[in-house]
Amino acid sequence: MISIEHINYRIGNTPILTDINLTLAERGITALIGANGAGKSTLLSLIARLQPLQSGQICVGGLDVNQTPSIRLAQKLAILTQSNHIHSRITVADLLMFGRYPHNHGLVGEEDRTLVQEALHRFDLTALSNRYLSELSGGQRQRALIAMTFCQQTEYVLLDEPLNNLDIFHARELMRLLRHLTNEQNLHTVMVVHDINMAAAYADHIVAMKDGKIAMQGTPTEMITEENLLTLFDLDADVLNHNGVPLVVHHI
Ligand SMILES: Nc1ncnc2c1ncn2[C@@H]1O[C@H](COP(=O)(O)OP(=O)(O)OP(=O)(O)O)[C@@H](O)[C@H]1O
Ligand SMILES: [Mg+2]
Repeated sequence: MISIEHINYRIGNTPILTDINLTLAERGITALIGANGAGKSTLLSLIARLQPLQSGQICVGGLDVNQTPSIRLAQKLAILTQSNHIHSRITVADLLMFGRYPHNHGLVGEEDRTLVQEALHRFDLTALSNRYLSELSGGQRQRALIAMTFCQQTEYVLLDEPLNNLDIFHARELMRLLRHLTNEQNLHTVMVVHDINMAAAYADHIVAMKDGKIAMQGTPTEMITEENLLTLFDLDADVLNHNGVPLVVHHI
């Protein structure tokens, strides 16, 4: 379970998050949606303790993130941030091995090698395994970073816009893979996603933020309505029903 209580967060005098209270009890995929600037990345980074809390408390799987040593937290929770500054002179295989660090502390064993090989295969990266990150396209690099996150083998996986830079084929492949890995390994996967149709089709639960607050949450069918899209995004769009899944027609 992720429990977030009374989180307020300011940068300077500007309130960024206001009284966030949220409990994510169920395993599965939670999509975090909301307009640019709503506070999604800030919330994710506080859950992963990339920034210290200013007030309130966040617990992940029973660990109070502000009290837990980094290495212990990294065994429980992995995060892919929206912008990454990982050094480009590292190969894809080495990057994935880096994800094993919280478990092996730099001493690579047979199990780590098997796991990395498996991840290279699953994320369609085998052919790229010896390339430097600087030699990859934006989408290939994004896939490598997500694969590294999964090599950390944590019960909680936070992904900030994992679909960034992916073409329509690889975006769908990734969502299918996330669905599969989440079910197979019984994970809590929380992902920021702007493609509302991907959230509708693949998430179990959707949490929407607006202006630094949790605006609403529910199942895709409850959440993806014409009225809610207007409230959350000022978007005037049609919502159709496609085999029982809401489908937003937003491009025309
Ligand atoms: N370092 C900073 N200094 C000042 N304001 C910041 C800083 N970082 C973020 N903000 C502000 O905090 C608010 C929330 O930002 P955040 O990155 O959490 O939004 P987001 O929901 O992830 O948006 P997006 O969909 O564009 O990624 C925004 O208004 C942003 O301008
Ligand atoms: Mg963001």
